Amino acid sequence: MCGIVGYTGSRRAAPVLLELLKKLEYRGYDSAGIAVCYKEQIEIFKRKGKVENIALAEKMQGSTGIGHTRWATHGAPSEKNAHPHSFGKFTIVHNGIIENNKVLKEECLLRGETFLSETDSEVIAHMIAFYDEGDFLLAVQKAVSRLEGSYAIAVLSSEYPDQIVCARIGSPLVVGRNENGSLLASDLVAISSEVDKAYLLKDGDFAVLGKNGIAFYDEKLKSIEKSPMQYDTVLSNADKKGYMYFMKKEMEEIPSVLSNANLECANGLSYKQFCKVLCQAEYIHIVACGTAYHSGLCAKYAFESLCRVPVEVCIASEYRYNNPIIRPNTLVIAISQSGETADTLAASKLAKDRGAYLAAVTNVPYSSLTRIADCVLETKAGAEVAVAATKSFNAQLAVLYLLALFRAKGEADFSEIARLAKETLKVSEEVRGWTHYFLNAKSVYFIGRGVDYCAALEGSLKLKEISYLPSEGYAAGELKHGTLALVDEKTPVVAILTQHELAEKTMNAVHETRSRGARVFLITSLPEAAKSGEATASILIPACREIFSPILSVIPLQALAFYTSLARGNDPDKPRHLAKSVTVE
Ligand code: G6P
Repeated sequence: MCGIVGYTGSRRAAPVLLELLKKLEYRGYDSAGIAVCYKEQIEIFKRKGKVENIALAEKMQGSTGIGHTRWATHGAPSEKNAHPHSFGKFTIVHNGIIENNKVLKEECLLRGETFLSETDSEVIAHMIAFYDEGDFLLAVQKAVSRLEGSYAIAVLSSEYPDQIVCARIGSPLVVGRNENGSLLASDLVAISSEVDKAYLLKDGDFAVLGKNGIAFYDEKLKSIEKSPMQYDTVLSNADKKGYMYFMKKEMEEIPSVLSNANLECANGLSYKQFCKVLCQAEYIHIVACGTAYHSGLCAKYAFESLCRVPVEVCIASEYRYNNPIIRPNTLVIAISQSGETADTLAASKLAKDRGAYLAAVTNVPYSSLTRIADCVLETKAGAEVAVAATKSFNAQLAVLYLLALFRAKGEADFSEIARLAKETLKVSEEVRGWTHYFLNAKSVYFIGRGVDYCAALEGSLKLKEISYLPSEGYAAGELKHGTLALVDEKTPVVAILTQHELAEKTMNAVHETRSRGARVFLITSLPEAAKSGEATASILIPACREIFSPILSVIPLQALAFYTSLARGNDPDKPRHLAKSVTVE
């Protein structure tokens, strides 16, 4: 949800900023811009569209600069709304939302100031200028004390051409050093391979980046020391490794991610306490958004069937406002690939405030979610860059299934599941031949029962987010209560079937939709269903323990979305209007 970067050092800033921005494009890509201090003047270059559209900025002179890649919240994607924004001596880039921007703008307008954009961010530059009495850091501190909402900002001042001041509340920000200078970015992924040491800013912290060092301050501007972050350079590095698309590379990584699945990565002492809470919890609430919500739905089946503990899975943005009933002995599990999703963070805070024990299942060990959780379970899937989540879903399932097994005192061989995932990836290539049936579909239905229904929901989400086809995941048995009226020859149906007990029932839905003219594409682990010839086309995927089957059955669904997206001429890594890390509510 917008990425910000900065650099000051001995090199020219522009090429460095462009490289950093490319690595943050997963956070938004509707416009981009950079600002560089040169000869005590700040020059800005910004354009609508992806970072490649500001490639010409590469030639800009100056060794101190900031940059931004945007996911629009206030104001349409356009050059004038693109960051950086300036007022007076100050130029800013911002990630987050300034909720009181209207009130602050009014104040500025009364002073006779004018605004050039429709963003909520421009007002930050005005507020800094208002509080400026010659001390750059103090002006920023006074200005941000007036802001409500969330922000990570980086600020340039033409009066201090070798400095960048940055601050955060509610939006992530890391800074780092190498022998050539100081860098900042919204995510470690952007700078991990560039810096020798990286530091995470906490809410309320300030950092002043200079060519020779970084100084840290708390919210009262008292100087503070920070310890460098501990991170795994391999896991935090985002590289296409020769693949055309991150999504494809990330799908191919599923087997290795699964073979690494374990619970050992949980944090030390708190893990022991967590095990106790896990085994004694009388209720489990799972809060998450998007794909992570779907992994929560799959986990519910595992927990309820293996442990007989009731699980409620809630969309995080709903949980907050539904006045949830959190009884004593409730374990809340927040699932988030990024650990920065604003709705998931807000729901987690609410659960903690109401006395719940909070466990976080996340892929980013230094994320905001890890700082509020009582226990952190890392998915260790490695950096995921494509906006549509793939390997992180499988990794979340692995951790969640291991938790259910731990409580149930059961076991699973994840190296075997990893092997089956490899086979599944191979057979999933067959769905490539299905895409022409989907290209101009009116809408697509994904159907299944039980855990197959959860997989259907995720398959549908994947298809809509990267192919832009209207689609819906539906409980196969519920079709006949209304939705069947929409099914005709222009509505392909994808049926998922991995549970013997439900085979006949799911196949009924296959017949019902075929009889209404639909083409039905079957993804099944049951050889007899695959052979039956009852679907237009089918693929046979390997079978694993049925309760865990979404970990495999989702793979052909991810592949179907990927190939349909390509066939429709889209960029599967960067779907329109979306961003990977949604740091606004
Ligand atoms: C966005 C992404 C989805 C993701 C969801 C939750 O919508 O596009 O792919 O599933 O956020 O993200 P999280 O990082 O909390 O798992």
